[in-house]
Amino acid sequence: MIQKLPVQERRIVYKHVDEEGYTNDIECYLKNGGYEVMKKAYQAQPEDLRQEVLNSGLKGRGGAGFPTGMKWKFVDHKSGKPIYLICNADESEPGTFKDRQLIYQDPHQLIEGMMISAFANNCAQAFIYIRGEFINGARILENAIEEARAKNFLGDDVLGSGYSCEITVCRGAGAYICGEETGLIESLEGKRGYPRVKPPYFPAVLGLYQCPTIVNNVETLCQVKHVIDMGGDEFAKIGVKGDSGTHIWGVSGHVQRPGYYEIEAGACTFGDLLHDFCGGPLPGRQFKALIPGGSSTKVLKWGEKFKVKHPNDGQEYEWGVEDIPLDAISIGLCGTFLGTGGSIVMDDSTDMLEALANLNAFYGHESCGQCTPCREGSLWLEKLSGRMTSGKARPEDVPLLKDIADQVAGRTICAHGEAVAWPVQSAVPKFQDEYLDKISKQASGQRYNPAGYPLI
Ligand SMILES: Cc1cc2nc3c(=O)[nH]c(=O)nc-3n(C[C@H](O)[C@H](O)[C@H](O)COP(=O)(O)O)c2cc1C
Repeated sequence: MIQKLPVQERRIVYKHVDEEGYTNDIECYLKNGGYEVMKKAYQAQPEDLRQEVLNSGLKGRGGAGFPTGMKWKFVDHKSGKPIYLICNADESEPGTFKDRQLIYQDPHQLIEGMMISAFANNCAQAFIYIRGEFINGARILENAIEEARAKNFLGDDVLGSGYSCEITVCRGAGAYICGEETGLIESLEGKRGYPRVKPPYFPAVLGLYQCPTIVNNVETLCQVKHVIDMGGDEFAKIGVKGDSGTHIWGVSGHVQRPGYYEIEAGACTFGDLLHDFCGGPLPGRQFKALIPGGSSTKVLKWGEKFKVKHPNDGQEYEWGVEDIPLDAISIGLCGTFLGTGGSIVMDDSTDMLEALANLNAFYGHESCGQCTPCREGSLWLEKLSGRMTSGKARPEDVPLLKDIADQVAGRTICAHGEAVAWPVQSAVPKFQDEYLDKISKQASGQRYNPAGYPLI
């Protein structure tokens, strides 16, 4: 089923990222065919553009993987209310660093993708909500918007089409929860970023200022440009059934060449990604664990096996982590998620308890506190794993960790509850022997030393 290629990237949205001589100003973008797709799109009817996106099978690249065309279909175009488009440039999921490269290096691609998406959905006002820390990114975007406005690619009566749309950049204040789309909308309205209850507050129905709103990720909106350029059916041929296009894999951690790689969905495996692209493990080390798609996705352990029946070809496979094809369907069959493609690699020098405690500290800090299970549970997980790393744990704390996580998942307004629970729910069963070993060594006064480094 997997095409075994001499593994190579297929750069679509990252075509110009890191290209020598390519700059982020409008003249460079225009020299490379910039805004031509938008001009073509504006000759079409908005509903035809929406149909192309639906046909493409494009799924959102912000983590949840919801089909973009379907999301756009939920928008009520007859409500009489304004329809807003929001680009989610919060990019706060640990391990994820793909959107910022698009913003820094090819901002006009995003603006063109947004102007096409805004036209397709009859929006006259669009926003880019960017994480507060990305000061440079916000400046680059503001500059690019001014350049585009000067050439009438946005603003009033774009290129004499009769269509007008503004894009406004809004800087967040750096809260992870403001990446969640309804928390983001609250924040954009000037309020505390508390996620809203769905239903009724599905953004497509009741979003910004209670109006229909589309929230899409940076990469998704860039991909839209290419969907319209090639046509939905052609785009759908890239990748695998159920997961079209490319994914940007942002690999960090214990590999020789961490970085970002844009790869056609399903064209190769995690083994290919980590060995051929990333150069394999560090000298003398072996891979131990992989968090595949941003820190909130479930951890995979080297050595575990997955027996799967693939829906695309009806075949049965037995995969190790390295054999899993890089597409959302195959990764999902192994009990985790493609998420943002931000893969965190850990080798055998990693203390998995320290790693989990680190994640728990992040999610404890970032819980907005609105829902009791998340507010209390995330702090208990942080406290408990902190106790375990500082040598004060009891063996029963290991199952207790999982018990607490089980009380959080599925019991909150937004998916931050899952983000809190999934690392724990996946890591505890897979690494409990290591956790118990560490606790018992601590109890007997020994130093725990998974890496085998000389102890100081
Ligand atoms: C806690 C939390 C944080 C999130 N952070 C981001 C983020 O930084 N960027 C993003 O695009 N989506 C983020 N999402 C997902 C958004 O809620 C939403 O699904 C996404 O922006 C939709 O865009 P897409 O359909 O193009 O993927 C987050 C979700 C949760 C639950």
